[in-house]
Amino acid sequence: MSKANINSHTIIKVQKLTKKFNGFTAVDDISFTINKGEVFAFLGPNGAGKTTTIKMLTTLLRPTKGKISINGFDVKHHQHQVRRSFGIVFQDFSLDEELTAWENMYFHAVLYKVPGNLVKKRINNLLRLVSLSDRKNDFVKTFSGGMRRRLEIARGLLHRPQILFLDEPTLGLDAQTRNKLWSQIYKLNHKYQTTIFFTTHYLDEAEKMASRVAIIDHGQIVAQGTALELKQLTKTNSLEDAYLKITGKDIRQESVDYMSKMRLRQSRRPR
Ligand SMILES: Nc1ncnc2c1ncn2[C@@H]1O[C@H](COP(=O)(O)OP(=O)(O)OP(=O)(O)O)[C@@H](O)[C@H]1O
Ligand SMILES: [Mg+2]
Repeated sequence: MSKANINSHTIIKVQKLTKKFNGFTAVDDISFTINKGEVFAFLGPNGAGKTTTIKMLTTLLRPTKGKISINGFDVKHHQHQVRRSFGIVFQDFSLDEELTAWENMYFHAVLYKVPGNLVKKRINNLLRLVSLSDRKNDFVKTFSGGMRRRLEIARGLLHRPQILFLDEPTLGLDAQTRNKLWSQIYKLNHKYQTTIFFTTHYLDEAEKMASRVAIIDHGQIVAQGTALELKQLTKTNSLEDAYLKITGKDIRQESVDYMSKMRLRQSRRPR
């Protein structure tokens, strides 16, 4: 697999972005740009500010300071155009378990005003892209974690967004399922030049898939570049070692802690 399908047109531009929650600075004066077609990995320890940044980029949270441009539109002044420019897969599962895969897709298509004559074809094509065609009439509650993630990705693509935000898309999935998911994301990136912005606790997949990486710690970007550049900078042989040197934290242990937290949260959810 070669890396991302990039051109030189800027699609995400973040300038001096800050978010404070009652005096606590969750995101602290960060700046970066992403070109169309890039696969960009946003890495950092738990609580570093990754999800908060994604929420600001996707109009769900208002920045305290700073400027964000998505697909040429200012997030503050052109919310509608910004929202049409991206699809998002949240850190927590967000499908309706009591509906079928098809119904989940259909309601999202209605929400995004996909023209009626295109809905059926588009849903079928996307379900094929994520290899779920044969399960389309099954309830989501019968799906595995990997299948749910694939369905969420398909759903996020219904309105043909230029950018896809993926917050921990593979957390808790086994290695084989992660590979399969990434080969589908890769296909999407190559076929449609979709820009991918993702966070992950698996540094092997960031190293393999991302054209560029930024590391955020305590709300600040502490390093950014290609995986190779970060390895050279820290004189290490893997992105995982580079990350450890830059942040002083072992991301593998974090992902184990994080998953137990998630499991606890899900087991508390009302059924
Ligand atoms: N709505 C909120 N109110 C107050 N504090 C918040 C809020 N949302 C996030 N925070 C705090 O901001 C910091 C950054 O949180 P964020 O969820 O962005 O981290 P993250 O990098 O996504 O972490 P994780 O890897 O655990 O998902 C944390 O200290 C968190 O507790
Ligand atoms: Mg997060």
